[in-house]
Amino acid sequence: MKNKDSYTHVRGESLFVDDINIREGTLHGVVFDASVAHAKIVNVDYSAAEALAGVVKILTYKDIPGQNQIGAIIQDEPLFAEDEVHYQGQPIALILAETLTIAKKAVKLIKIVFDELPVVTTAKEAFDKASFINPARTFKIGNNEDAFDNCKYVFEGETYTNGQEHLYLETQGVYAYPLENGNIKIISSTQGPTSVQKIAASVLGVAMHKIEVEVIRLGGGFGGKEDQATPWATMAALGVAVLNKPVKLILERHDDMRMTGKRHPYESFFKIGLDEDLKIIAFEVDYLQNSGAAADLSPAIAERTLFHGTNSYFVPNAKLTVHSCKTNLPPNTAFRGFGGPQGMFVIEAAIEMAAEKLNIPAYKIQEVNLLQDYDEFPYGQIAKNVEIKNSWNQLKKDIDFENKLKEIKEYNKQHDSTKLGYSFMPITFGISFTNTMMNHARALVHVYQDGSVGISTGAVEMGQSVNTKLLQIAAMKFGINSSKVKIETTNTTRVANTSPTAASATTDLNGKALLMACDAIQDRLESVASRVLKVDKESIFFKDNFIYIKDEKSSLSWDTLIMEAFARRISLSETAHYSTPKIHFDKTKEKGHPFAYHVYGTAFTIVKLDCLRGIYDIESVDIVHDFGKSMNIGIDKGQVEGALVQGIGWMTMEEITYDTKGRLLSNSLSTYKVPDIYSAPKNINVKAMESNGHYMAILKSKAVGEPPLMYGIGTYFALQNAIKAFNPKCKLRFNAPMTPEKVLLSLYE
Ligand code: MTE
Ligand code: HPA
Ligand code: MOS
Repeated sequence: MKNKDSYTHVRGESLFVDDINIREGTLHGVVFDASVAHAKIVNVDYSAAEALAGVVKILTYKDIPGQNQIGAIIQDEPLFAEDEVHYQGQPIALILAETLTIAKKAVKLIKIVFDELPVVTTAKEAFDKASFINPARTFKIGNNEDAFDNCKYVFEGETYTNGQEHLYLETQGVYAYPLENGNIKIISSTQGPTSVQKIAASVLGVAMHKIEVEVIRLGGGFGGKEDQATPWATMAALGVAVLNKPVKLILERHDDMRMTGKRHPYESFFKIGLDEDLKIIAFEVDYLQNSGAAADLSPAIAERTLFHGTNSYFVPNAKLTVHSCKTNLPPNTAFRGFGGPQGMFVIEAAIEMAAEKLNIPAYKIQEVNLLQDYDEFPYGQIAKNVEIKNSWNQLKKDIDFENKLKEIKEYNKQHDSTKLGYSFMPITFGISFTNTMMNHARALVHVYQDGSVGISTGAVEMGQSVNTKLLQIAAMKFGINSSKVKIETTNTTRVANTSPTAASATTDLNGKALLMACDAIQDRLESVASRVLKVDKESIFFKDNFIYIKDEKSSLSWDTLIMEAFARRISLSETAHYSTPKIHFDKTKEKGHPFAYHVYGTAFTIVKLDCLRGIYDIESVDIVHDFGKSMNIGIDKGQVEGALVQGIGWMTMEEITYDTKGRLLSNSLSTYKVPDIYSAPKNINVKAMESNGHYMAILKSKAVGEPPLMYGIGTYFALQNAIKAFNPKCKLRFNAPMTPEKVLLSLYE
């Protein structure tokens, strides 16, 4: 089964927020934001804007009936700035006008006087000034103090990874309108409908039940709409509450890029110790996370950096500390991998550095340190059913590694102006929200009288095809055609108190709840069928739209059975709740068992460098990935390819730049380059590894959304490898993205 939306996507018929037919009297919003990154607001003069014909209202913090506060983890972020601004792009007011054109004109008429304050843009500056979001956190295993003394080799270094713009095709947007009795409906492009509902209610000072949030689908989220769809939705709801009129607010690309947070840049300082057998004995890192001007999801993201600090390796002695540094950038936020990629980059860099100093290829160190069953992670979880060596070994076999290596060496011997480079990138990624409390979901299933089925869950469709997978689950369970099943929009009145669609766990959580709801209905239907067919319940099966008695098709169709059940006054609806069993984590000890299971895989990347110009092609990326028992290999491979290319973009070309005053320079598609078909690898070869899956994965089909992004890290090290082949004397740099400019400088250093 293909993504069920592909037909309407291709025809341009799929609905996004901007496509909704708007109601009469709808007002259009444009956000007035800070043009400087840190300042006191001395005076704002709205009079000229207010005087413009067609401007209905300019909303500021003064119009907020409830709390001017949108911070979800830490309450440190106002919806509208009051007397200070802390980053360029920070919202100060919302102009509401009869047309978008008028609103845009009005925003230019606002006069503001700032008293500018010093601006901090880098994590290191903030760290040196002790400007933090929250206290640092440390994961520890073994005893680092003694362990380094016992190492044969010890190396130290630093790394930098830049941020990343989400660049979802659909920008942030919302359409909100009044219902009766002061109730408000918000149609939002959000990964977290409940977050929107909760924050909007708190800002408006009303009960959550007065706010209904609906999500049709997202034109991509990638983490950028986990928390940061909320301010726009809340502003629109505020407009509705104040004026009792519908409000539409869609950010234009420039505004979206300037106002919203991105992947966190990290500066990290590491020390790695090995014994003579190349075993990693000790590893220590200080991660400086550039959190931006408010917490947003930074504490949770910092935590995941620690969870993935040792990537796919067993490290007996480790001390990993993360500092969430407060700067004058937009609050950085979730982005596919959620801090994991930043953590993994550091240990890969440390291994690369050790390999260079020892004059051996990095894969020799990687290989002898891969995790095995019963190894302990620094957070206390014991690794089980580890597939990392299996994927590594299968990949080596598939690509015929020994010969491949010879070919690469031979090529490099024969070519002076182009060089090949290669790398292995193993990944081990934990599945579950690291905050145990968030790992639950619900489903609501209605079977209608005619046998058709409607399903609601908390899952948000954002291109990852969760709806297709949910459809598959219900159709399979009931033994009916998928055309009989409809996945409804995500709506807080049908499924409440949801966790955001994130952490790659959406199908696991919502799909398991769906299975349970279907089971309950099926159980009742089996009783009816057994009475109708006069056979025992145990022999009843649902298949091909009919009821089977053992292996034999009966005359009773699904549709008739449903009519029979209805006539007997049997409930054809069910809601079910699933929460991941067994997981726990104790933050006071920083130990526990936070993940339901891990996803594994290995990538082998070959790049070809043009040593005159510094440009490069990615020749191939071969991947052996642990899908478990994939329930939809087409969709899952699509996720791997998409994530890989997104990871490559982060590592090689996407370069977010702020000037020293904290103004975003890479604020459009002419100054911010994402991978296109020309820069994608020439060959991407994704193989599914034979594995048993895991019982906590939906139908043993493992979560797939985020883990493969980290295969992209391999491209960085393949490029380093190629540079070294041309200029063995160049100094290793761990400073991503590795743009052609940086490559060129390294080649001729
Ligand atoms: N795939 C598409 N096409 N669009 C997206 O926005 N988001 C990614 C991933 N794959 C995303 C995507 C992120 S960040 C996550 S956490 C998962 O999908 C979320 O969905 P899942 O839990 O259903 O995998
Ligand atoms: N992953 C993704 N999103 C999240 C998480 C997580 O572990 N925790 C809170 N939001
Ligand atoms: Mo994904 S970063 O967990 O939305």
